[in-house]
Amino acid sequence: MKRKIALGVTGSIAAYKAAELVRLFVKDGDDVTVVMTPAATEFVRPLTFQTLSRHPVNVDQFAPPEEWKPEHVALAEAADVVVVAPATANTLAKMRFGIADNLLTSILLATRAPIVVAPAMNDGMWENAATQENIEALAKRGVRVIAPSEGELACGSCGRGRMVPPEEIFKVVSEMTRT
Ligand SMILES: Cc1cc2nc3c(=O)[nH]c(=O)nc-3n(C[C@H](O)[C@H](O)[C@H](O)COP(=O)(O)O)c2cc1C
Repeated sequence: MKRKIALGVTGSIAAYKAAELVRLFVKDGDDVTVVMTPAATEFVRPLTFQTLSRHPVNVDQFAPPEEWKPEHVALAEAADVVVVAPATANTLAKMRFGIADNLLTSILLATRAPIVVAPAMNDGMWENAATQENIEALAKRGVRVIAPSEGELACGSCGRGRMVPPEEIFKVVSEMTRT
């Protein structure tokens, strides 16, 4: 195994693209644990990520942990890098303010590993001052933000908000974690 990656998937229509990202990591020999927000499970079933990652998928913060340690602490400590792709406006806002109200946001607050986020959202959400301030604050804190690209969006409009392709996220994570 090359790297231990905790991959957070949030409630965006781009959640399906995270399946390809898991495949790229696994193909590269990485050990990937997928953590989904409850909203993300409305878009893609955990079974998809479980099969591709070859590990159970974590969603419920209060599910009995495999060992005594709370799951969010165990996963936060085990990860070499935490990647959130796609990252919703909502989860980015929680990250900025240190809100830990689900398993993924709790891991993000507890981890000491580097964090990479690949935002995906409607162009209005992306351009909103709240999102821009959150992104700026996170970047200043050392979070690696892979800015979304411009193009046709799932909501029907055209603008900036598309999550970058999985290959690009894979490349950024690989460069960051190169030993
Ligand atoms: C069809 C649909 C698509 C959505 N796509 C996005 C998206 O791409 N980005 C985003 O920030 N929110 C999107 N949302 C809204 C989020 O799902 C909502 O803010 C949710 O609370 C996010 O929760 P989470 O951050 O815990 O995953 C979408 C909602 C729906 C119904």
